[in-house]
Amino acid sequence: MRVKLVAGNWKMSGSLASSQALIKAILPQVAALNRARYAVCPPFPYLGVVGQVSQGSNVALGAQDLCQFDDGAYTGGVSGAMLADCGCRYALVGHSERRGIFGETDEAAALKYGQALKHGLTPILCVGETLAEREAGATESVVARQLDAVVKRCGAAAIGQGVIAYEPVWAIGTGKTATPQQAQDVHAFIRGRIAAADRRVAEALTILYGGSVKAGNAAQLFAMPDVDGGLIGGASLVADEFVAICRAAQDAKETVKA
Ligand code: PGA
Repeated sequence: MRVKLVAGNWKMSGSLASSQALIKAILPQVAALNRARYAVCPPFPYLGVVGQVSQGSNVALGAQDLCQFDDGAYTGGVSGAMLADCGCRYALVGHSERRGIFGETDEAAALKYGQALKHGLTPILCVGETLAEREAGATESVVARQLDAVVKRCGAAAIGQGVIAYEPVWAIGTGKTATPQQAQDVHAFIRGRIAAADRRVAEALTILYGGSVKAGNAAQLFAMPDVDGGLIGGASLVADEFVAICRAAQDAKETVKA
């Protein structure tokens, strides 16, 4: 049985004051929910304060990225150990903005995935195709390449210790959500690809959908058999929207098997 997960990706938004206000508005409403897992990923400088406010709550702390190296002379880097120290449970890895804007490679994402596990964090590996890739019929080959890089470096069992987020790049921040069926098709492909290496890992694997998830479309997406929750960008910055999405995960049927 897979328990749904909703994670908010605050990206590079807000201030110290607005981050505090946002988590304080989210916590009491999510406290009443108990059938899914919840997390927020604030910007690095606000992890401390958001972590303090949310300590002991049912909203876990996550980071948006981590360094692929352990420690030492990597100016600007933030290590997995530091994030664990600050109370993080999750770390996003290979988000499309890291890949597309900052030139992060499949190999770097695989190294980061390994670092997260090494330091006791649950990596949320983001995969997904651009619009040009979808139109060229390359969705599956792109997602397979991104997944395989991690399997090759970390092993199939390591996939079972993390979470996958399918985020079509054309749906991120565009207001253009994948249809529930489009999401389901790629989620089923991902699960199938992992199943080829390890069936039990694949069946238990949490696969999130991300890309313009809102209060108004979350329930339909979460109703698909292979959609185990969401990674939420823009809508996670509005407490009521985010809480409504958390509620949709709470109300969705638990998925026994794809
Ligand atoms: P969005 O972002 O919900 O604003 O489309 C999702 C993400 O980038 O994780």
